[in-house]
Amino acid sequence: MRVLSGIQPSGQLHIGNYFGSIKPNLEFVEKSDLSIFFIADLHALTTMRDSEALKKAREDIVLDYLACGFDAKKAIIFEQSKVPHHTELMWILSCVTPMGLLERAVSYKDKIRQGIGASVGLFTYPVLMAADILLYGATHVPVGKDQKQHVEMARDMAQKFNTVFGDTLMVPEPVIREESAVVPGTDGRKMSKSYGNTIPLFGDEKTVKKAIMGIVTDSAGADDPKDPENSVIFVLNRLFLGEKEADALAEKYRSGISYGDAKKRLFEDYMDFIRPMREKRMKLKPADGQEALDSGKRKASEIAEKTMESVRKAVGLF
Ligand code: ADP
Ligand code: TRP
Repeated sequence: MRVLSGIQPSGQLHIGNYFGSIKPNLEFVEKSDLSIFFIADLHALTTMRDSEALKKAREDIVLDYLACGFDAKKAIIFEQSKVPHHTELMWILSCVTPMGLLERAVSYKDKIRQGIGASVGLFTYPVLMAADILLYGATHVPVGKDQKQHVEMARDMAQKFNTVFGDTLMVPEPVIREESAVVPGTDGRKMSKSYGNTIPLFGDEKTVKKAIMGIVTDSAGADDPKDPENSVIFVLNRLFLGEKEADALAEKYRSGISYGDAKKRLFEDYMDFIRPMREKRMKLKPADGQEALDSGKRKASEIAEKTMESVRKAVGLF
């Protein structure tokens, strides 16, 4: 089992990213023969225009991962843009990818609907993503529901390539995380960098507190009974509690805990949970991140070069 996942460096990580992506991905490291993580900085260019912000997000993500428990001795972490094979394979794949396949991409259509200008890069985004996956012979690609179609497209491209040029590329499986893993933001919608409703993973204590105290609630009075299942605060509370503790807190909601107290409890539990990671994050230096990335780049390049040798041979570029 070879697991691969990518994350775009498009802003500060939040607890939705942690529970929905980082934590399950780190669990895969133990279960797989090889785990590969990469910072999808070329993908980020489809939407980002601020070079300093991109640079900062790239530097932060690797340190955030290390603080969350990523071990560069057990797994690979690297930056997509530092391994040029990604764009080389992307071009070759794009020559066997029908326009119709990309025209069906839901996330492309969504972005256009949101008014994001349709660049060629945004349109061919799934081909670059397929190259990311196929270069490393990934067997399993854990993603959120929104990315499922992209992994299916990577399967289609691998199959098409293999049919045309002979068996060369591994056909990957998407591993879809359950819908229950969707962490709500402070306004009740899905927590997302693009909605400005996040609770940051490594933000300073004041910012975290402000975000938590600002969670939108209904107008129930302090002593009124509340339905925990319909409370955004409770869904967040539960992330930091064992089953028994969560049941006990749910009981308090039903008998009338005030939203203010529920938020205070959330802040305290969050801080207890994050403290060891936060302390580790503060000790990490940019050089620690660079060291992990340099060794990751070396290992990733070796695998990528091997795949490209077979691909070049298969298509006649040898
Ligand atoms: P954002 O929506 O904040 O820009 P991304 O799209 O960069 O987040 O997502 C990075 C990873 O984190 C993806 O694997 C995605 O499925 C996961 N993720 C993002 N937001 C959430 C959330 N609210 N709940 C669960 N998982 C999430
Ligand atoms: N498109 C993914 C996202 O926005 C990031 C990504 C790029 C990725 N290449 C990938 C994820 C390859 C998994 C495999 O979340």
